[in-house]
Amino acid sequence: MQGENSDQEFDELLLMLKETRGFDFTGYKRPTLMRRVQRRMDARGVGSLSEYCDYLELESDEFTQLFDSLLINVTGFFRDPLAWQALREQVLPELLSAKSARRSLRVWSAGCATGEEAYTLAMVLGETMGLGEFVSRVKIYATDLDDAALAEARTGIYSERQVAEVSEELRQKYFEASGTKYAFRRDLRRQVIFGRNDLTRDAPISRVDLLVARNTLMYFNAETQSNIIRKFHFALSNPGFLFLGKAEMLLNHVDQFEPVDLRKRIFRKIGKPAPAEPPRMVTATGPGDDDPSWTGLEAAALAAGPIAQLVIDRRGRLIAANLRAEALFNLRPRDVGRPFQDLEVSYRPTELRSIIEEVTKGQRSVELTDVIWHSAPGAEPRVFDVNVVPLYSHADQPVGVGISFLDVTRYRQLRDELERSNHDLEQAYEELQSLNEELETTNEELQSTNEELETTNEELQSTNEELETMNEELQSTNDELQMINDVLRLRGEELDTTRAFAASTLRSLGSAVVVVDTDLRVNVWVPGAEDFWGLRSEEAVGRLFGELDIGLPVAEVVPLLERTLAGQPTRTEAVVEAMNRRGRHVTMVLDLLLLQDHDGVRQGVIVVMNEAGAQK
Ligand SMILES: C[S@@+](CC[C@H](N)C(=O)[O-])C[C@H]1O[C@@H](n2cnc3c(N)ncnc32)[C@H](O)[C@@H]1O
Repeated sequence: MQGENSDQEFDELLLMLKETRGFDFTGYKRPTLMRRVQRRMDARGVGSLSEYCDYLELESDEFTQLFDSLLINVTGFFRDPLAWQALREQVLPELLSAKSARRSLRVWSAGCATGEEAYTLAMVLGETMGLGEFVSRVKIYATDLDDAALAEARTGIYSERQVAEVSEELRQKYFEASGTKYAFRRDLRRQVIFGRNDLTRDAPISRVDLLVARNTLMYFNAETQSNIIRKFHFALSNPGFLFLGKAEMLLNHVDQFEPVDLRKRIFRKIGKPAPAEPPRMVTATGPGDDDPSWTGLEAAALAAGPIAQLVIDRRGRLIAANLRAEALFNLRPRDVGRPFQDLEVSYRPTELRSIIEEVTKGQRSVELTDVIWHSAPGAEPRVFDVNVVPLYSHADQPVGVGISFLDVTRYRQLRDELERSNHDLEQAYEELQSLNEELETTNEELQSTNEELETTNEELQSTNEELETMNEELQSTNDELQMINDVLRLRGEELDTTRAFAASTLRSLGSAVVVVDTDLRVNVWVPGAEDFWGLRSEEAVGRLFGELDIGLPVAEVVPLLERTLAGQPTRTEAVVEAMNRRGRHVTMVLDLLLLQDHDGVRQGVIVVMNEAGAQK
């Protein structure tokens, strides 16, 4: 069960539970809820949330199972025995000594599940106060959201396994046999009052001395926890004690509660000291000065109080209103004693008659918040928190109700301003966040560009290095070439010198000397040959000797050349008739010599041609 879709589907499931069954689980910790729903889905072999919603619509029985699973009812007698011991030793003595022996002790077990916690409280108090005191003074209000659990709690019957944590002695004292089971004693059972109360929505039980809310808060998210703890603070008397489960803390409420024993999760309400007398609201327009219990100072102080207050007696008559109330609601002294329902204030700024009835019947306070009042047309609207509380006599008998109107206009304005500022802040924060994200993206882009640049740089560097190496190689090749060149130049010069020497030698011979290679191509054609045959060196060199068009009978000479080249013999003399370049018949003496290198490899043939009879 993950992802945006599932989240949306889960919201839809919660909405369906709220709309069709009136259970609002939005204030609960989401992961726990998701795990519990998943368990149900697994049990039913359902694969998706939407399928499960369909299943719930078809099988109403599954609702019960799902609630059972969501409202985890795990509980037990004396759960965390050491914490109960701390309660008995550190809280009850202080609480009992702070209360006059006549006053009743009000205890609230919030989230009592199947009742074990409430009955544990009964046993602990019974042991501390004695059973007589317990019966006459103690009221344990045990509430839960789960009707089925409450029904079980009301029976007060538990199995052997369930009472395992109750000592034999206490079992004997507080339980009666009920078949094979144990039933909490009927006469004591009356002190425990079970009722349904949704901690997230309903008003708290009021004037509580000890509030036990163990292992219940932890299922709510932080915001809901805060709201509930605020209600707990309101519900508690002064002194008032709060007893939580071992996994629960009050980190954000240090201004409301102080620890008595932090490790055992026992806290004391921080609040103004409680008045010695039960609350009595009176005033300017109130009982006469002849009432002996009423001193002028008290009346003056209450009359001048900044909060508008009214007191209604059990018969529904207004019996007191302070100055602020008089001014606000235009009350006159003659209004005191009149039926409250006849006064405009009973329905304006808000309908109070039904609320008073509810408070009188249930003996529970009701708080109305954000009541808006337009005192006159065009006047600035004022906002009130209206509190209707039951009032009790010394003997703890209900005597009427008190109504206070707390003007929270300024507070609401501030709250609205705060909300606006928060909204602006959130927007600014979101913008900042998106800017931040953009910045991060840009940064990442820059980083990757930088990395690319670095890579390119490295590539360039390595290319550069390669080029440098190549350059050096080239330079060394160049040096070598230069050297070779120098050598070649030297050789060339030597060759030129040798050639010049050879040419001048050949020229000095005065003969027509010709050298042919092994293919019988002319290699050397000396100036003497030019003179004889009228063919210039550049015309003769490179051509086959047999193809030369000169006055010499080359066809006759070629076989001689071939023989000499074959070394048969290596020197031959021959006489041939020829015609020189001037057209004169001449007899030529040819001397053919095999040309060999140092190793005796044949290189060609040297032909020395002279006119017969001419001086060499
Ligand atoms: C784990 S039990 C704790 C029982 C007992 N306090 C203990 O510590 O042994 C939690 C109880 O909280 C109840 N619960 C859950 N949500 C609630 C609500 N919104 N209002 C009142 N009780 C609620 C559940 O029904 C369940 O019985």
